[in-house]
Amino acid sequence: VYTMKIVLYLGVFTPKTSKCIIAFTKPFAKVNTMTNLETLLKEMTLEEKAALCTGAGPWTTKPIERLGIPGMIMSDGPHGVRRIPNEYTWEGDALPATCFPTAACLASTWDADLMYTLGQALAKEAIALKVDVLLGPGINMKRSPLGGRNFEYFSEDPFLAGKMASHLVNGIQSLGVGTSLKHFAANNQEYRRFSINAKIDERTLHEIYLAAFETVVKNSKPWTVMCAYNKLNGYYGSENYHLLVEILKKKWGFEGMVISDWGAVHDRVAALAGGLDLEMPGPNDRRVKAVIEAVQNGTLDEGTLDESVRRILATVFKAAQTPKGGTFDQTAHHELARQIASEGMILLKNIGILPLNKPKQLAVIGAAAKQAHFQGGGSSHINPTIVSEPLAAIKHFADGAVITYCEGYTEKENYDQVLIDEAVNQARSAEVALIYIALPLEKDSEGIDRSDLDLTVQQIALIQAVCAVQPNTVVILNNGAPIVMGEWINAPAAILEAWTMGQAGGDAIAEILFGKVNPSGKLAETFPRKLSDTPAFVNWPGSHREVNYGEGIFIGYRYYDTKDIPVQFPFGYGLSYTSFAYNNARLSATSIKDTEKVAVLIDVTNTGKMAGKEIVQVYVHDKKSVLIRPQKELKGFAKVALEPGETKSVSIPLDFSSFAYYHPDHDRWITESGEFEILVGTSSRNIHARLGLTLESTLQLPSTLDISSTIFD
Ligand code: GLC
Repeated sequence: VYTMKIVLYLGVFTPKTSKCIIAFTKPFAKVNTMTNLETLLKEMTLEEKAALCTGAGPWTTKPIERLGIPGMIMSDGPHGVRRIPNEYTWEGDALPATCFPTAACLASTWDADLMYTLGQALAKEAIALKVDVLLGPGINMKRSPLGGRNFEYFSEDPFLAGKMASHLVNGIQSLGVGTSLKHFAANNQEYRRFSINAKIDERTLHEIYLAAFETVVKNSKPWTVMCAYNKLNGYYGSENYHLLVEILKKKWGFEGMVISDWGAVHDRVAALAGGLDLEMPGPNDRRVKAVIEAVQNGTLDEGTLDESVRRILATVFKAAQTPKGGTFDQTAHHELARQIASEGMILLKNIGILPLNKPKQLAVIGAAAKQAHFQGGGSSHINPTIVSEPLAAIKHFADGAVITYCEGYTEKENYDQVLIDEAVNQARSAEVALIYIALPLEKDSEGIDRSDLDLTVQQIALIQAVCAVQPNTVVILNNGAPIVMGEWINAPAAILEAWTMGQAGGDAIAEILFGKVNPSGKLAETFPRKLSDTPAFVNWPGSHREVNYGEGIFIGYRYYDTKDIPVQFPFGYGLSYTSFAYNNARLSATSIKDTEKVAVLIDVTNTGKMAGKEIVQVYVHDKKSVLIRPQKELKGFAKVALEPGETKSVSIPLDFSSFAYYHPDHDRWITESGEFEILVGTSSRNIHARLGLTLESTLQLPSTLDISSTIFD
């Protein structure tokens, strides 16, 4: 009857679940053509269709043996495969997998091609661990550095987040493993995340909080999108018709499957009507029954149910095309994790001490030197295949130096002068002191936001005391989001931001400190001088019911640069062991229509003695706009590797989207004719060239009620 092959079932009963886990021994024939799916859909009973729309367990969709519909296994993500051994239960430690650097570090590489490579490695591990869809990447904007999941998200800028996530999704899906772009939308805080109502105006929503999702959906077609827990403008993410149907499915043309975050569905019938195709986790017979009854009593149109079933079937059969099982190369993936970590780490300060030059005595201080702090807490927590201990890595590179170690601080936040005194004594007699500082685990975790941006009192006192006796001190930071440094930043000779660096981060730190790798990472999130400077400060985290995104489109550097607020380290900032010169900045045209492209060109030279990589950034400034716009917006970037003395000409394309902003009256991205400045820089605050461009908008838009013309000089 169907074109698919007769599939041989192997039923495996496990004592735990008493459910039959069907191991399909042969890939399915192509069943994802609409004809076949329509045939299959017609064969399904109402009960079967309703059952398919809720998971059969915590990590799998429901297999329907009668019709040869397999289950589809989903696992976190996003920076490793967290495969719980039995997809029908919650229990059990995750199987070993490579814990790659988290998204905060990934974004800091500014290397989109490297994301594709990472994606393929993640896919290979998913295949080996029999996972069909990886629950990631998470691309919510970092509205405030207090956000508990900032370690798991990319940036304060939607262009950078969208570009990096697109390449990651392309890499994962290139090997036939699906992704789940999350959390759609406006999961920007953990405080009351299951219920809080995010109040966001339509322009801010599209221009900031949906923009990265739009980029990835249109460019990379993720197999699934995961709805967020929170409400958006009064409707839960799981039943937000405007978001899931009007924007995601109709406006953007998303043809994949919308899945709920785990436990995000409140009313299954309302969720189906709102565009939510698959509720996770399952099983939930009460919810299935409610759907059946709703169709039978006419409160839910069966066509709506069928639309979700179609999307689920198409995804399930697409997943079934990729044979699962086998192994993955743990050594090669650990090496890739190290490479990515070393590309994402950021040299924030260096007064001539790095790279280290064969010190004879090293004082290694800090618990994080022994207990590597390489990931955050919550659903993304990976069981690593191996962990490179930072102290062991130092010993490996320090060839013969005397190395002392002391704890300096403990995970608890109590003050301990004895630990500080011990560290001071060891630092005093050393040539160089290395202080490894990690935020306490609960400060980088799903489910809880930070209440401050500080290190602990003990950690601050430790840094100050050690630096007071040892000017050659390097502070190495393991944190998933910005910290304030005002009390101690002048004390150490160098600061290396190592992030939640993944399992190989210990090696990556040592390679940078000893100059085997020239640091090239740059900030994807501004480090403010103090918490009260941050854009969302007066609107965070809201009341127990709602949070108002009062700062609008002005988040991150869009806020700091428009208001000219001093920051500790700006967006796009990062040092190198070499230096670069920028010459001959030019445009391929100085006047274009918005239907045309223009290239930004600049020659970059490595003027130092060490090979290195530079990240050239292109920002756009609209000199005059009907609605207010940020002082600058990132619209292009390129990472270029240069040998000492080498020059390369970098070309960065701009197009309609580089000049457009979202106008709520027109409910679309629009351009306005006028003068623009193209800023070429190596951070949002370090601009090397300003180039003039005249844009002619070809849009025929009805006049709006706007009366003011905002002019920026
Ligand atoms: C969690 C997270 C989500 C994760 C899911 C499954 O609550 O919000 O990111 O993929 O549940 O663990």
